[in-house]
Amino acid sequence: MSEQAQSIERSLSTLRATFRGRFEAASTEQSLRDENAKILGKKGELTAILKQMGGVPADARKAIGEVVNTLKQEVEAAFAERLATIARAARQAELDAPPFDLTLPARLPAQLGHAHPISRVRDEIVDVLVSLGFAVHDGPEVELEENNFTKLGFPPDHPATDMQDSFWTTGGMLLRTHTSNIQVRAMTTHAPPMAFIAPGVVYRRDDDATHSPMFHQIECFLVDRQVTLAHLRGVLAEFAERFFGAGTPVRLRPSYFPFVEPGAEVDVGCPFCKRPDGTRAGCSVCKRTGWIEILGCGLIHPTVFESCGIDPEQWTGFAFGMGVERVAIVKYGIPDIRLLFENDPRFLAQF
Ligand code: DAH
Repeated sequence: MSEQAQSIERSLSTLRATFRGRFEAASTEQSLRDENAKILGKKGELTAILKQMGGVPADARKAIGEVVNTLKQEVEAAFAERLATIARAARQAELDAPPFDLTLPARLPAQLGHAHPISRVRDEIVDVLVSLGFAVHDGPEVELEENNFTKLGFPPDHPATDMQDSFWTTGGMLLRTHTSNIQVRAMTTHAPPMAFIAPGVVYRRDDDATHSPMFHQIECFLVDRQVTLAHLRGVLAEFAERFFGAGTPVRLRPSYFPFVEPGAEVDVGCPFCKRPDGTRAGCSVCKRTGWIEILGCGLIHPTVFESCGIDPEQWTGFAFGMGVERVAIVKYGIPDIRLLFENDPRFLAQF
């Protein structure tokens, strides 16, 4: 046998002994294809052997040619088989992996939050009143009946004191039903004159589209000598002007609260149907009246002064109290108070 033929046979037997192992060692489709190219590709080992066939004497060529062809078929078959194995393994890994949840929200860049609309409106109201000279006075949410009702002139059988309307705890305490308790707390601890606001949470047994069992109020009161309704009206007009916008009209309608005399309810001109000339067309928000009620007010009743140890002959004062949710609803045209408490991000994002 010629030397050429012997060298070819050595190469062939090495290749036959190793190609399966080389394919087994490839763990990815790409590395398998690379390995296959090293054998069968244009510059592959078996291709190189085929090219040497020309130098083999004719008598040996046929036999060697058959060996080469057989080996080539074996390599091709082994490649195909290994390729299928790798594809099957990849598919199985996909099936074994935790499943995709197509309903998961996309990964978005971190989203910034912002103050809750109730906090925003509360802060805006506080800012306006502080700018008018009122100081913030805090107080507890679990309150004595005395401070919440009795000293404010509520008779013992007043419906507001009823089990149905208030959340009673123990020992004559209840969850305060309004922030007017701060009037009592301030007037029993401070000597007049004084001017305070009291933002805070209050509780009532109420739950429907316009009432929540927990809501927010801001109380505002001033005690000084010779305070009149004109002072009250002036502060309310200034508040409406700064909070709802220039030219917002205010009107007082006589009303009754045990702790003021005279007492009134206050309406502001509806911000939703205001015409350029300042008149109101009337709309669904203001129920076609052009006015929206926002708070209760009045001149502090002499009996409140007396029960707090302040001489009503010398001192006078005004007070008003508003619901923060109520004002927020008016300012933003929110149809249902409960939206403010559900904290649905789609709702909150609008503010
Ligand atoms: N406290 C009353 C309420 O919760 C609101 C109120 C009315 C407060 C008249 C006042 C006032 O200071 O003078 O409904």
